[in-house]
Parts: sequence; structure tokens; C-alpha cells
Amino acid sequence: MGPKLREVLEGVPTYKPGKPAAAGDGPVTYKLSSNENPYPPLPGVLESTIAAAGSFNRYPDMACSGLMAELSERFDVPATHLATGTGSVGVAQQLLQATAGPGDEVIYAWRSFEAYPIITQISGASSVQVPLTGGEVHDLDAIARAVTERTRLVFVCNPNNPTGTVVRRAELEEFLDRVPRNVLVVLDEAYREFIRDPAVPDGVELYRDRPNVCVLRTFSKAYGLAGLRVGFAVAHEPVAAALRKTAVPFGVSQLAQDAAVASLRSEAALLERVDALVTERDRVSAALREQGWTVPESQANFVWLRLGERTAEFAAACERAGVVVRPFPGEGVRITVGEAEANDLLLGAAEAFRKEL
Ligand SMILES: Cc1ncc(COP(=O)(O)O)c(C=O)c1O
Repeated sequence: MGPKLREVLEGVPTYKPGKPAAAGDGPVTYKLSSNENPYPPLPGVLESTIAAAGSFNRYPDMACSGLMAELSERFDVPATHLATGTGSVGVAQQLLQATAGPGDEVIYAWRSFEAYPIITQISGASSVQVPLTGGEVHDLDAIARAVTERTRLVFVCNPNNPTGTVVRRAELEEFLDRVPRNVLVVLDEAYREFIRDPAVPDGVELYRDRPNVCVLRTFSKAYGLAGLRVGFAVAHEPVAAALRKTAVPFGVSQLAQDAAVASLRSEAALLERVDALVTERDRVSAALREQGWTVPESQANFVWLRLGERTAEFAAACERAGVVVRPFPGEGVRITVGEAEANDLLLGAAEAFRKEL
């Protein structure tokens, strides 16, 4: 008989990371499976990270003071409304620890970010999954109707991973007005910087007069720091304080903190790269539509093809062409927008596949 483990862990789905590109001497392959930023670190960001590495015999600044001060200024929010974590998925897990346990319910759209069911189940709470609409968008009306007195937290992933679709200001504000004030609404804005639709609201503006709204942001995507693990939340004091309590002590390394500060200071250069990726996203979406595919309008750094039973076959065809995409078996494929050469290979593979349909 082994140690007694919590029953809720039984059947927790394991997080599937995007498959890496093939290593070795064969032809170059590209990883379009994890919504990463394809650009290498900016020289200034790399330098400050390397400098921080010189003292990794020391614990990092536990309060992330430098980063907090920078974020506070950048977003015009008090530092007491900020909390950091090991990526925004770390902060999301802290949010669940702070709000939900056995007998409670957590609502989110489905399909959405695959960490939501995992971290919800680990908390002991139950997941309530509300299907996306036929247009692959959050059904905010159905989500509002799914709220019960057991609901503790609702995730709204905007843009949604893996579909790239968004909810806009009027519908989101109406939804927030309907949700009871004792339910925390988490606006997961991991891909915020890729949005070009002016009707999509900035969660940081929505949270200001709504104490039950928390905004999640990350340095992993637009800022290109996925490997360093740093994300943050913007929320009113009680929620932000609860996040600081549930944080793993010293979870965010000094390398990550210094890289995040350097990234905020190099924002203009980083956002130029984001612009280039947005241009590529729009090119890829248009080319796929031209080929006859149905592509939901993406405001993120990836596009979604609902391939159903052909999903695995399509992913294999892409891989043979040199690009690794992210299949969700039986549902569809999420394709990260990468460097132009990678996107061209993807478009070639998609066109050939389309002709065989
Ligand atoms: C919607 C969404 N939220 C959060 C994350 C977590 O990112 P990180 O933990 O790297 O900040 C991801 C990553 O894929 C995501 O797609």
C-alpha cells in the first residue's frame, strides 16, 4: 500500500505540450504547436537576463518589486493590485487555490485553454464546460445562465485558445453585469497584444470598477519569454492579496523578473515584431480561406481549422512538410503563426491536403 493521494487526482488529464520540431541533421522543421514567439530574445533583454544569471546562487526578490513598479506604471494600476506567478498558468492555478475547492464549480467555454480542466480538477472543484457557439466563439449568454450559487470562478479566454476568436465590448460588459459580484471572472488575456479589432475591450479598463474581475497577462507570447515563466494578474486588493498568499515562494526567478522589466522597457521594438506576426496571421488566414478552408477570425498568434476526423491526418501531412502543428484529436488543428518560411510550408501542406479532400 502506497501513500494516500487525493482522490481528485484520479483521471486528471495531463497537459500536453506542443510537439517540438524535429532535431538532427534532416531538413529544417518548424514548431508551430505552442503559440510561442518565433523571434529570438532582443539583444537588450538577453543582456539583462545574462547579467541576472551571475547571481543565481541567491534567491530572487520574492516581492518582484522592480517588476511590480514597472507594471504599476505601465498599466496605471496600484502595485497592490498586481500579483505575479510562474507564467499566467501559475497565476491561474493560484486563483483556483484562492477561490475554489470540493463542492464548488468553475465555468469556462469549451474548447478553450487546456489547462483550465486540469487546474480545476486539481483544486477539487467541478468543471462546468459551456460549448462554444457554431462560430467558435464564447457563448456568454449560456455561460451567464450556467452560474449557480456553487460557482466560484469563470474563465473568459479572450482571444480564445485554440480558436483565436474574441468577445467584444458590449457583450462582455453585459455579461459582467449579469454575473453575481461574489463570483470571480478571470479575463485571460494571454494574447492581448495580437488584437487589432478595436471593439475588443482591454480587460485592464474593465477591471477598474469591477472588484470581481481579474485580468491575466503573460510575458510568454508577445514578449517572447515563454521559457522564463512569468505572468501576472491585475485585480482589486483582496484578490491580488490572495494571489500573493497562494504563490510559490520565490517562484519567479530573478532572470525572469529582469527579463520582464527589460522587455517592458523595449516594448516598442517587441511590439514591432508583434505587428509583423499580425501581418503574417492575416496573410495565412486569407490564404487558407482562398484555398477553401473555413478559418474563424483570429485575433491571436494562431489560427484554428476544425478538421474533425481528419485532424490527425492533417497534422501528419504538415509534419511531413516540415511544420509541427497542434492537433486536438477528433476536433481540429491549432496552427501558430511563425516565421514566413514556416507559414509558407504550412500553406503548401494545407493546399495539397485540400486538393485531396
Ligand atoms: C489562454 C492562455 N492562457 C494562459 C497561458 C499560459 O501561458 P504562460 O503560463 O506561459 O504565461 C496560455 C499558454 O498557452 C494560454 O494559451
